[in-house]
Amino acid sequence: MAFVWWPCLVLTLFFGLETSGFPRSPLRLLGVSLVVDGIEVYSTKISCKVTSRFAHNVVTTRAVNRADKAKEVSFDVQLPKTAFITNFTLTIDGVIYPGNIKEKEVAKKQYEKAVSQGKTAGLVKASGRKLEKFTVSVNVAAGSKVTFELTYEELLKRHKGKYEMYLKVQPKQLVRHFEIDAHIFEPQGISMLDAEASFITNDLLGSALTKSFSGKKGRVSFKPSLDQQRSCPTCTDSLLNGDFTITYDVNRESPANVQIVNGYFVHFFAPQGLPVVPKNIVFVIDVSGSMYGRKMQQTRDALLKILEDMKEEDYLNFILFSGDVTTWKDHLVQATPDNLKEARAFVRSIKDQGMTNINDGLLRGISMLNKAREEKLVPERSTSIVIMLTDGDANTGESRPEKIRENVRNAIGDKFPLYNLGFGDNLNYNFLDTMALENNGFARRIYEDSDADLQLHGFYEEVANPLLTSVEVEYPENAIQDLTKNNYPHFYDGSEIVVAGRLVDRDMNNFKADVKGHGAMNDLTFTEEVDMKEMEAALKEQGYIFGNYIERLWAYLTIEQLLEKRKNAYGEEKENLTAQALELSLKYNFVTPLTSMVVTKPEDNENQAAIADKPGEGRQRAESLGTSPFSDVPSVDGDPHFIIQVPEKDDALCFNIDEDPGTVLNLIQDPVTGLTVNGKIIGDKGISPDSKTRKTYFGKLGIANAQMDFRIEVTTDKITLWNGDERSTFSWLDTIMATRVGLSVTINRKKNMVVSFGDGVSFVIVLHQVWKKHPVHQDFLGFYVVDSHRMSAQTHGLLGQFFHPFDFEVSDIHPGSDPTKPDATIVVKNHRLTVTRGSQKDFRKDVRVGTKVTCWFVHNNGEGLIDGVHTDYIVPSLF
Ligand SMILES: *[C@@H]1O[C@H](CO)[C@@H](O)[C@H](O)[C@H]1NC(C)=O
Ligand SMILES: *[C@@H]1O[C@H](CO)[C@@H](O)[C@H](O)[C@H]1NC(C)=O
Repeated sequence: MAFVWWPCLVLTLFFGLETSGFPRSPLRLLGVSLVVDGIEVYSTKISCKVTSRFAHNVVTTRAVNRADKAKEVSFDVQLPKTAFITNFTLTIDGVIYPGNIKEKEVAKKQYEKAVSQGKTAGLVKASGRKLEKFTVSVNVAAGSKVTFELTYEELLKRHKGKYEMYLKVQPKQLVRHFEIDAHIFEPQGISMLDAEASFITNDLLGSALTKSFSGKKGRVSFKPSLDQQRSCPTCTDSLLNGDFTITYDVNRESPANVQIVNGYFVHFFAPQGLPVVPKNIVFVIDVSGSMYGRKMQQTRDALLKILEDMKEEDYLNFILFSGDVTTWKDHLVQATPDNLKEARAFVRSIKDQGMTNINDGLLRGISMLNKAREEKLVPERSTSIVIMLTDGDANTGESRPEKIRENVRNAIGDKFPLYNLGFGDNLNYNFLDTMALENNGFARRIYEDSDADLQLHGFYEEVANPLLTSVEVEYPENAIQDLTKNNYPHFYDGSEIVVAGRLVDRDMNNFKADVKGHGAMNDLTFTEEVDMKEMEAALKEQGYIFGNYIERLWAYLTIEQLLEKRKNAYGEEKENLTAQALELSLKYNFVTPLTSMVVTKPEDNENQAAIADKPGEGRQRAESLGTSPFSDVPSVDGDPHFIIQVPEKDDALCFNIDEDPGTVLNLIQDPVTGLTVNGKIIGDKGISPDSKTRKTYFGKLGIANAQMDFRIEVTTDKITLWNGDERSTFSWLDTIMATRVGLSVTINRKKNMVVSFGDGVSFVIVLHQVWKKHPVHQDFLGFYVVDSHRMSAQTHGLLGQFFHPFDFEVSDIHPGSDPTKPDATIVVKNHRLTVTRGSQKDFRKDVRVGTKVTCWFVHNNGEGLIDGVHTDYIVPSLF
């Protein structure tokens, strides 16, 4: 069985292997290098059409392979997380490969097939705060041309008085024709429009950037010449790398605007100039130990800034929770200058300590607001808000997510909204999101970064100015169907309420809508009447509108709201919501979390080449490595710390194996697929003979696939691949991807490597490097199973036995010998074990800092959790 590394794709070259082989392009002779690694990208165009906040964006890139052999061409686009991809086509030498939206399960089967045939896959990956990444790579023959065209759509939402459209610009090389061309059409008339690039000041852009607006139309064009793209006059690398942001707003002469086209309507509502409704606001702040340091300081800074923005009519209090709950005042107090002064002193004194009791913190805050209302402590015409900030998972008191949600739901009883702010990555964001949504609020992630205080304050600004509460939008009975959400607990200044639906009778003459809400002084009703004939005529006259934009806007909004509702639904209701959202996604061609895009060869539905998938929020994990989004990740890292995550429980178990250096342990053994993974233990440099204090790690890993006659040996220095007797060796200094049918190996220089066997078995090996002259420690490896769903039910080994679904029950949580780490009893595999709450680190994303995973630690080498005893897993050699 001859082994061919076909095609060995070198993504980044570190040893200049390929550079000599390029034909000199005529362009290079002119001193302009437009060919990078054999590929010339000769055109990139981002075309945006926005009609009534609904944006339709098309990104087109054209490239030619000027090398004398086949080359990989990659297309990367970062698009807003709130956008849905609606189309993608690939054109190679004039042959069009169209994209089709399919139900995810159907698409996945085709994708598996494509991968097993060695086809390149495109993915949407999580990426940054507001954007996610769409990537596709294709192999292009020498001299061939390729065109990528990606379309995505989104409804721009109004925040702080404007709509913002982000375009990530990152061409990576000089592009002969680079252009952003945006046309905005707003029937209400445009009141302001701006555009700026994060990578260069506008005056330096000079003639490259033009922006203008007049009446209903706005236009932004960014067309830098080759010289304007260079990072310096003699440079050949591109300056274009960052965000290009277009912002605008519309005239607000009337509080509402209704547009109707082809039987679909959209109703925008944003009244101006109303007085702000006083707020009763409780800040529930996590001050647990993990908030230590910068996070705590940024929280204090943000709270101080928020106090500056408080209005004298507002009432407030602070609830701090760690292992227990403390409050600033016993009840809400008015934001008088004296009280604010005292509040500032209190905020400055906040310190971190202990565990995380989310449940009791929230319940205390909620009951305080309820009591303030009952005892008429706060004004009648005021609105209550809970803002909770946490950076971790509940780990003391009531720590079951479902139970906390139930308690909070019952306590709030739909009376006011809860906003959850999740600080950093070490938390169960889905839990915070779901809990906020089911209490009429929403969750926000605060990214751990130097601007975290600004993010917190920015969030506060969005909810600081409620102009109306209990907003209801009403239409004449029986005139409207398929209405999107039409009641909102608040209308905040600077935002906008959008409702869309379908007319029962397309030929009706008059359209009437009422918006009712409670204002600061009195109850208000805004009535909007529209003469249909006039409206349709006015909109059509523009000839500007892309086809059925209101219908698509309605579909977008409906799908978005169904998906949101689905997060809190169970059983039949969830299936129903899923079915409705799926049907609309398929009908209107949206890549949502329920659908995927499959790119097919013409007249060959069997031969799929690429796929687009939308990632969810949640714990931010494997996506950054481009691995599949499966969430159960058994792993072993550090002083062999085994972590078994159980996603159904939102929890994890962990254990250590304490054995002598030189011992080889079996991690995975699958008799059906023939896969084996073993790890060899190393110790610290000056090994302490005392097994209690010594630290051991994995220094060498062996992955073997008997059926493929294939082995990989990974040490902290090098990576060796054997196919039968044929051997290839790589260093951790390489960045390479090697693929063959049913197998791909990617080495990310000095960081990690990903080994995948088809779609369904995928491992990540993380390299931990320590300072070479470190007196004690040495380099070691971590091993993560990111996907195991294609391994057989017979799979065993220290990690392999946990690939099968298993359950455990935690009870009797009580203080342990270490006051910060409670003990508990768990029942697992018919054993009753005493375990201790602890945390381990997941280093896949960031090898230096890691991501904290809280888990129940099983003592004595995992006794009772693992089948048999740990010595059963000792094997004589790596292979
Ligand atoms: C997708 O884009 C291609 C190329 O522009 C176009 O021919 C095709 O009609 C589009 N498909 C849909 C469903 O819009
Ligand atoms: C499912 O949705 C349909 C409307 O599409 C509705 O008539 C039906 O009652 C729903 N069923 C459940 C169980 O919610």
